[in-house]
Amino acid sequence: MSTTDQGRVAAVVIMAAGAGTRMKSATAKVLHQLAGRSMLSYAVDAASALEPDQLVVVVGHQRDQVEAHLAEIAPQALAAVQEQQRGTGDAVRSALAALGDLVGDLVVTSGDVPLLSGETLHELVDAHRAEGNAVTVLTTIAADPTGYGRVVREGGAVTRIVEQRDASEDERRITEINAGIYVFDAQVLRAGLAGLQTDNAQGELYLTDVIGFARDLGRRVGASVLSDAVQAEGVNDRIQLAALSAELNRRILRRWMAAGVTVLDPASTWIHDSVDLAPDVTLLPGTSLEGATSIATGAVIGPDTTLVDVEVGEGAQVVRTHATLAVIGAGAEVGPFSYLRPGTQLGAKGKIGAFVETKNAEIGDGAKVPHLTYCGDATVGEGANIGAGTIFANYDGVTKSHTTVGKGSFVGSDSVLVAPVDIADGAYVAAGSTITSAVGPGELAVARGTQRNIRGWVARKRAGTRTAAAAEAALRETADETTAAQEDGR
Ligand code: UD1
Ligand code: CA
Repeated sequence: MSTTDQGRVAAVVIMAAGAGTRMKSATAKVLHQLAGRSMLSYAVDAASALEPDQLVVVVGHQRDQVEAHLAEIAPQALAAVQEQQRGTGDAVRSALAALGDLVGDLVVTSGDVPLLSGETLHELVDAHRAEGNAVTVLTTIAADPTGYGRVVREGGAVTRIVEQRDASEDERRITEINAGIYVFDAQVLRAGLAGLQTDNAQGELYLTDVIGFARDLGRRVGASVLSDAVQAEGVNDRIQLAALSAELNRRILRRWMAAGVTVLDPASTWIHDSVDLAPDVTLLPGTSLEGATSIATGAVIGPDTTLVDVEVGEGAQVVRTHATLAVIGAGAEVGPFSYLRPGTQLGAKGKIGAFVETKNAEIGDGAKVPHLTYCGDATVGEGANIGAGTIFANYDGVTKSHTTVGKGSFVGSDSVLVAPVDIADGAYVAAGSTITSAVGPGELAVARGTQRNIRGWVARKRAGTRTAAAAEAALRETADETTAAQEDGR
């Protein structure tokens, strides 16, 4: 039976008021990220899967940051303030104070358990209802239970949860741990919280003590043992953050590999949750795909490539590239060593090559910018060719201006196109030109000093140098050849 068959979850409370001391960070713990998203956003997603009537996040420590972020990711959620962090029992009390009277099932989770899935929460709620419990705790068997609350059972039934610091030697040997995720009968919870005491090693109000209260009422307490233990893992420091980030990344990669994506080296490939990949995409080592990046079928990305909010078309190749907010057309080639800044749009079968930087540039189908170029604020027409070392001079120190290079046009190497300037369709720019005014269709623009060769300059000004010796030898050879040719001609 699924959760929705049996009615709604009255509320989910996400506890996120703790100090997160061990992160040693100016950023609130729940705002630290895994795979491009905050820990809190994962907790909100899992909670939202239950479609609760109300979603409450308990805030306290660094609450301004947390509240501002919450307003962005979940405007429908309510922030309940816990003024002093007096323990998890007190955190849920603060939530209940903000919620008013409630009946039905209330789920409690933590903001620092990022891999917990909505599905697991559904299963927990289903078990709670099927067993008719007043409290159901999510537990798991931990390889190393140190630091967690241990689940104490008698004859199979859960009698209490004991914190590491309050536990006896025997209790510390228990490997079944409290994941800190619960379903409560809201009324039992409210009554139980009212009677909590701080008579424990930490002097805190423990949410887990509600279990004893429920049992004293003669109500059932159950535990759901999670086989995927990593979903229950919390983040208290950056070592755990790195470990869970890597695990999340492995899960994301497995999902894409199962969907037909080739990942050559999963250990060095990082993909944000928000990325979309088609079957038969190939990812080479050292690839990072972030934000709203999407890659079409047959494309090959990497090695050593970072794409942030980039759309890559079918069969394109992107090698050793850093790109942000760019569109790469089908069959296009990018890299190696290319830098695509926001607003770059490369057409189908176009090319952006080695040591090229682009920004706000629309480069048409089949157009090529192959080597050593800065192309900013530009429109480059279909099939145009931009020679090696061309600079689009788009900035005069005050304003940015636009350059157009028309269809099929050819810009010779080492040219400077001083914006604003228009080069028409089917035009040529001679290599080494500095173009400051428009070039018409079919015209060749030459804008450079005319070449002048000064005879005998090396002999006069650099006598005795290696260069002069080479010149002398070359001139002698030319003279000999001329003489021989004249003799042959006779
Ligand atoms: C808690 C459980 C422990 C469980 C572990 C799982 C209790 C007494 N212990 O211990 O059994 O194994 O979680 O991770 O509940 N928080 C508040 N306000 C507070 C205190 C905490 O909002 O006053 C929040 C924290 O921000 C965090 C969550 O509650 O998100 C858990 O708090 P934490 O101090 O990490 O609890 P643990 O000692 O880990
Ligand atoms: Ca914790």
